[in-house]
Amino acid sequence: RASAAALAARSLRPPRGFGAAPRSARVSAEAGRGTRCGGAVLGGLTQGLSDGCAESQAGSAAPGRGRFGESGGKRAQRTVRQQIRVIVVAGGASKEVLIKVHACGVNPVETYIRSGTYARKPALPYTPGSDVAGVIESVGEHVTAFKKGDRVFTLETLSGGYAEYAVAAANRVFPLPEKLDFRQGAAIGVPYFTAYRALFQKGCAKAGESVLVHGASGGVGLAACQIARACGLKVLGTAGTEEGMNVILGNGAHQAFNHRDPNYTERIKACTGPGGVDIIIEMLSNVNLDADLQLLSHAGRVMVVGCRGRVEINPRDTMSKESSIIGVSLFLATEEERRECATAVLDGIEAGWLKPVVGLEYPLEKVAKAHEDIICSSGARGKMVLLL
Ligand SMILES: NC(=O)c1ccc[n+]([C@@H]2O[C@H](COP(=O)([O-])OP(=O)(O)OC[C@H]3O[C@@H](n4cnc5c(N)ncnc54)[C@H](OP(=O)(O)O)[C@@H]3O)[C@@H](O)[C@H]2O)c1
Repeated sequence: RASAAALAARSLRPPRGFGAAPRSARVSAEAGRGTRCGGAVLGGLTQGLSDGCAESQAGSAAPGRGRFGESGGKRAQRTVRQQIRVIVVAGGASKEVLIKVHACGVNPVETYIRSGTYARKPALPYTPGSDVAGVIESVGEHVTAFKKGDRVFTLETLSGGYAEYAVAAANRVFPLPEKLDFRQGAAIGVPYFTAYRALFQKGCAKAGESVLVHGASGGVGLAACQIARACGLKVLGTAGTEEGMNVILGNGAHQAFNHRDPNYTERIKACTGPGGVDIIIEMLSNVNLDADLQLLSHAGRVMVVGCRGRVEINPRDTMSKESSIIGVSLFLATEEERRECATAVLDGIEAGWLKPVVGLEYPLEKVAKAHEDIICSSGARGKMVLLL
C-alpha cells in the first residue's frame, strides 16, 4: 500500500514553469481567430494547462494527439508558456446558453485530464472547467428555462469553465439562488451531485445508518457531510489538519478524525463500536481501501469516489461481512439521475442546510498554482475556486 501511495505521489507532480498572462491579454491575444457566440468572444486557457504534472506519464499521451500529446511530456516541460486561445465553439445552438463566468470550481480530475493521465481524453483545444457560476448572457432559441441576466451554476460546460465566457447545454444549467454568491455557486455542481450519487443512488444510504466520509474537508467531502447529516445519518469525517477537522464539524459531522494521525482508524473503531460503519465515502481508495474493509459493518459498503493508483486488499475481508466495494462515476449518471440530484441540491439550498464551503480562491491567472495545490497540498478547507 505504501508503494502504491508513493507511486501516486510521483505521478501527480505539480506543474512547473508556467508564466502568467496579464488578464487583459486573455481575450485580445488571439481574438481575431475566435468565434462569436451570442455576441461574446469566448476566451480560455488551453496550452498553459496542458503540461507539467505528468512527467512520469509522458508516454501515455499518444503522439500526434495535438497539443496534449505534444505538451504532456518532458519536451514540453522545458518550453511551456501559458498561452491564451480563443475557443472556437459551435455556439448559438438552440438548446445552449452562454454564461458570463464569475467563478469556476477546480476539480482534481481537471489536473488528471490536463496531464494526459485520465482515461477520457478531451477534444483539443481543451479548456478545463465544469462548475461555473455566473450570469446568462444569451440563450438559444429553444431555451425557455433561462433568460439573459439570470444567475446560474452549471454541472458541465461545452466550451470550458476556466474562461470569461462559457457555453453550456441548458439541461446542465441550474438557477443560482440569491442567498449563495458566485463563489459558492462554483462549489455546487460536481461536488454535491457526486456526494448525493455516492450516498443514495449507489450507496443506498438510509436515515439511521452511519457514514464515514474519508476525506471530508474538500469539495465532495463537505458536500457529503452536509447531505448525510440533513438526511438523518450519523456522520464521521476525516481531514488532515485541525482546521479541516473544525470545518467538518461545522458542516454536519458528528465526529472528526485526522487521517494523518497513525492511530486514527483505531479511534474510528472505538467510536463506531464492534458494529462498524455502514457506508464509507472514500476519496483516496489507493491508500485507504484495505483499512476501510476493516471498518465496515455487516453488509457495509465502500463507495470508491477518489482513487489515484493501485492498492492491495484481501477479498476475504468482504466475505466475512458480505460487504461491497462500489465504484461511483458522476459521468455515468443518467439524465433522470442528474435531475434527481438537482432536485435534492436545490431543495437543500432552499431549506438552508446546503451551504457550499469555499476554501482557497485564485484569480484565473494563478490557475497553474491552483492545479499544483489541489494535488499536492494537504489541508483542504472547502472547495477550491477560480475567480474571474
Ligand atoms: N467518482 C466521481 O465521479 C468523482 C467526482 C468528483 C470527484 N472525484 C474524486 O474524488 C476525490 C475528492 O475530490 P474533491 O473535489 O473533494 O477533492 P479536494 O477538494 O481536493 O479534497 C481532497 C480530500 O481528500 C483528503 N485526503 C487527503 N489525504 C487523504 C487520506 N490519506 N485519506 C483520506 N482522505 C485524504 C483531503 O484532506 P486534507 O487535505 O485535509 O488532508 C481532502 O478532504 C478526488 O480524487 C476526485 O478526483 C470523483
